[in-house]
Amino acid sequence: MTITNSKEKLEDKKLDITLRPQSFSEYVGQEKAKRNLDILIRAAKKRKEPIEHVLLYGPAGLGKTTLSYIIAKEMGVSIKITSGPAIERVGDLGSILTNLNDGDVLFIDEIHRLNKVVEEVLYPAMEDYKLDIIVGKGPSARTLQLDLPKFTLIGATTQLGSISNPLRNRFGITHRLNFYTDSEIKEIIKRSSQILGMEINDSGSSELASCSRWTPRVSNRLLKRARDFAQVNNFNLINKEIARKALEMLEVDNLGLEPSDRHIIKTIIEKFNGGPVGVQTIAAAASEEIQTIEDVYEPYLIQVGFLARTPKGRVVTRSAFNHLGYDFPEDGQERLI
Ligand SMILES: Nc1ncnc2c1ncn2[C@@H]1O[C@H](COP(=O)(O)OP(=O)(O)O)[C@@H](O)[C@H]1O
Ligand SMILES: [Mg+2]
Repeated sequence: MTITNSKEKLEDKKLDITLRPQSFSEYVGQEKAKRNLDILIRAAKKRKEPIEHVLLYGPAGLGKTTLSYIIAKEMGVSIKITSGPAIERVGDLGSILTNLNDGDVLFIDEIHRLNKVVEEVLYPAMEDYKLDIIVGKGPSARTLQLDLPKFTLIGATTQLGSISNPLRNRFGITHRLNFYTDSEIKEIIKRSSQILGMEINDSGSSELASCSRWTPRVSNRLLKRARDFAQVNNFNLINKEIARKALEMLEVDNLGLEPSDRHIIKTIIEKFNGGPVGVQTIAAAASEEIQTIEDVYEPYLIQVGFLARTPKGRVVTRSAFNHLGYDFPEDGQERLI
């Protein structure tokens, strides 16, 4: 089972809901985004207007969904949650939009996966709060225009590059969520352990933080596993040893890599001599989904300098060869260009 995989799973979802911060003050880090959004919300409230459409992007598990809930809460409005792949037809979008109230937030997760036809209907909805619908078929078909409530769209994506320009341009604000610092992750672990009712000392939280990939969802999951491990062994505190043992049991290494990350790197090294190789080929060879590789594994592997994206494909770096105990090929460095 994959543990640090930061893509949402059912167990995760429950944990996410329990540990999700409810306000800006509980939301650790991302200071710039928080500050800007806070001003935006306060100004909009004064004017009694909805805020502009917001686009949030960044790797999985960094807090995009959480931030969207907080925005709606601070605005004092309802939030309706959906996702790009869930809106299959124009009619689906139409019924979502017409059921909103003035000021409501519509949250579209994975917005880069909206299909083109639906996306085009979204443009006038975002711009003028209008919905164009076609009534009838063939020569007698005509377009009807409906007025929509003044809503705020919050889009979230792991891949900004996959969003078309016309869609991107219709967002008033775009924020990138960054990986968290070690001390922010420790703060999140501290907060979460209080909610979970488990004591953790400083060295215990440092140990978990160092393997958390700078990602809150991962740190929360590791904390939960360490808590289980502590409780089974009748410890009432997570210290460094308990944290270490829990991580070992999960086969998470000192960089926070888990077996499935190592499997990706090993596949590229063993089957493709370190690359360059296209992501589709990696996905097939490693029996993983392309989406999962791009959203879950790659951002962190790139961030730790184990993987590079080149025009010819993905290339494994010298430090990854070293970390996994392989000899670096003679021409390895040249392939990075
Ligand atoms: N800034 C933060 N402060 C504290 N906890 C956070 C923060 N961001 C995320 N989390 C935790 O991580 C979990 C995953 O965040 P989520 O918003 O679902 O990520 P994303 O939508 O970007 O994949 C949340 O449930 C929450 O417990
Ligand atoms: Mg999310």
